[in-house]
Amino acid sequence: AAAVEHQAEGAAISLGVVESNHAGYTGGGFVNYDNASGSSVEFTVTAQAGPATLALRYANGTTTNRPMTISVNGTAQASGVAFAGTGAWSTWRTATVPVTLAAGVNRVRATATTAAGGPNLDRLDVTADGPAPGRPA
Ligand code: GCU
Repeated sequence: AAAVEHQAEGAAISLGVVESNHAGYTGGGFVNYDNASGSSVEFTVTAQAGPATLALRYANGTTTNRPMTISVNGTAQASGVAFAGTGAWSTWRTATVPVTLAAGVNRVRATATTAAGGPNLDRLDVTADGPAPGRPA
């Protein structure tokens, strides 16, 4: 299946701000998480039920990992997902996370779990795994 793109600057931001001062982002900018545990970005993802791969495009100009928990509809599906240093705030990499999505609207949230907060987050790409029996490609 083709990836569906969701820009972070269009998502629901809790403790963070949209910025565009580091090159290489897509869309209109990126989310600079506050340097605070619990800062988060929540995407609204419409999907078919089943396994999917999330690809989170981010930059981390420090040398310290900024792990996040990934939840779907309020339930953590992955914790301690690494958002390691990328070498510069203008160098973007992708962290991938396998999840299971529900049919219809899913609230996909990436929450920082350390005091440094999250990385700068550019975009979420969602790709349905499959095709699987009974599920269209
Ligand atoms: C710097 C950088 C920001 C980044 C921040 C951070 O201020 O310019 O883009 O978000 O560090 O530590 O998170």
